[in-house]
Amino acid sequence: MIRTSPRALALALALASGLVVAAPLACGPTADPCAGPTRCVADGELPLPRLSDYDFFEGPMKDLKPKDGVVPYTVASPLWSDQAGKGRFIVLPEGGAITFAEREGWSFPDGSIIVKTFFFDHDRRDPAAGARIVETRLLIREAGAWVPITYVWNDEETEAELLKVGKRINIEFIDEVGEAKSEEYIVPNTDQCGNCHELSDAIQVLGPITGQLNTDVEVDGATVNQLTWLADQGLFDGPLPDLGGLDRFAHPMDPAGDLDDRARSYLHANCSHCHRDGGGASKSGLVFLRWEEDPAKFGVCKVPAAAGPGAGGRPHDIVPGAPDESIVLYRMNSLDPDIKMPELPNRVIDSAGVQLISDWIAAMPATECGP
Ligand code: HEC
Ligand code: HEC
Repeated sequence: MIRTSPRALALALALASGLVVAAPLACGPTADPCAGPTRCVADGELPLPRLSDYDFFEGPMKDLKPKDGVVPYTVASPLWSDQAGKGRFIVLPEGGAITFAEREGWSFPDGSIIVKTFFFDHDRRDPAAGARIVETRLLIREAGAWVPITYVWNDEETEAELLKVGKRINIEFIDEVGEAKSEEYIVPNTDQCGNCHELSDAIQVLGPITGQLNTDVEVDGATVNQLTWLADQGLFDGPLPDLGGLDRFAHPMDPAGDLDDRARSYLHANCSHCHRDGGGASKSGLVFLRWEEDPAKFGVCKVPAAAGPGAGGRPHDIVPGAPDESIVLYRMNSLDPDIKMPELPNRVIDSAGVQLISDWIAAMPATECGP
């Protein structure tokens, strides 16, 4: 079960293949600055009332077929969001470009918009059966800061309106074993975006970092490195360094991948936005950045900062060789608000993620952690 959303990938890249052909670089005084790779800013004061006002898509909006300058991308290790699939795009303002950084902290020009759409497959056994699109989130770069915004799609999937207060949506679907199910999905209030996106008091982008985008994608039937492809689209303001020595995250659910790499990539995507210096859980001292090298920092034999109900009577975050004794797993496996990790808003346990972290801890050479 590869949850890297093959659908999102297929979607983004089927679209991408169109873009490759249709996005000539603007050059010369007569070139249309909106013919890609950047895009003319929509008229009006941001945030615009409706998603269609941004003019990102052509044809029926629910096909999410991007216009020139609306550039699809994917992340190697996605955030678990109660089984939602996602489609992601980067939109740069006319003439703008990203300044690359080796690890994170890429710098985006004012007027950049990153677009992330959430959808739920009607039939989890068969992504080809279609999906219900629920919300589209934007991060807009204005005056040197990111502004978070959400649009909620109508039932007909023809339009999405600016969300003012959080909303709960009932999602009906056929589950993996063919049973009709429903689940309540929470669209977060924009005040809550900061719970994950805020680092040292400023909203940050989380996906567009080197390790997450340095992954192979398929464009026009050929396998290409996504960073190279994005650079070829003209997204960066200069040539990229040699990618060989840079971070490259694993696809967590790729059974052929290295277990340690997959687990660490999973924890980065799902936990590190809080569990790092400057993040919402910095006081815990637990750091889940993929590049953290000290096992004690990412939980191995670490005694928790506070032994509340969250510890479930277990003394250590990770006990090598013993998933059942590890607080990390106990908390990932719970929906109790006092215990569960990640904290809100998920309401469905990521059982594949729990299995991955369990396998990872089980495979560590057994060690006594001591008091
Ligand atoms: C539970 C944590 C969490 C919350 C809450 C959250 N996000 Fe995110 N968001 C992430 C993570 C992690 C990523 C990157 C991984 C991915 O794309 O799957 C991301 C990616 C995004 C992206 C794509 C650009 C980027 O930063 O990677 C946008 C746009 C976005 N979020 C907008 C929002 C908005 C708007 C809200 C509030 C309505 C919000 N997010 C709430 C965790 C969260
Ligand atoms: C939205 C922010 C947020 C996210 C995302 C998050 N955590 Fe936490 N986590 C916290 C906070 C805040 C604490 C400290 C308070 C507590 O223990 O409940 C904490 C504490 C913990 C602790 C106790 C650690 C210690 O040493 O004190 C563990 C274990 C933990 N988290 C695991 C995880 C795992 C595993 C993930 C990802 C699957 C995750 N968390 C994602 C906010 C978060």
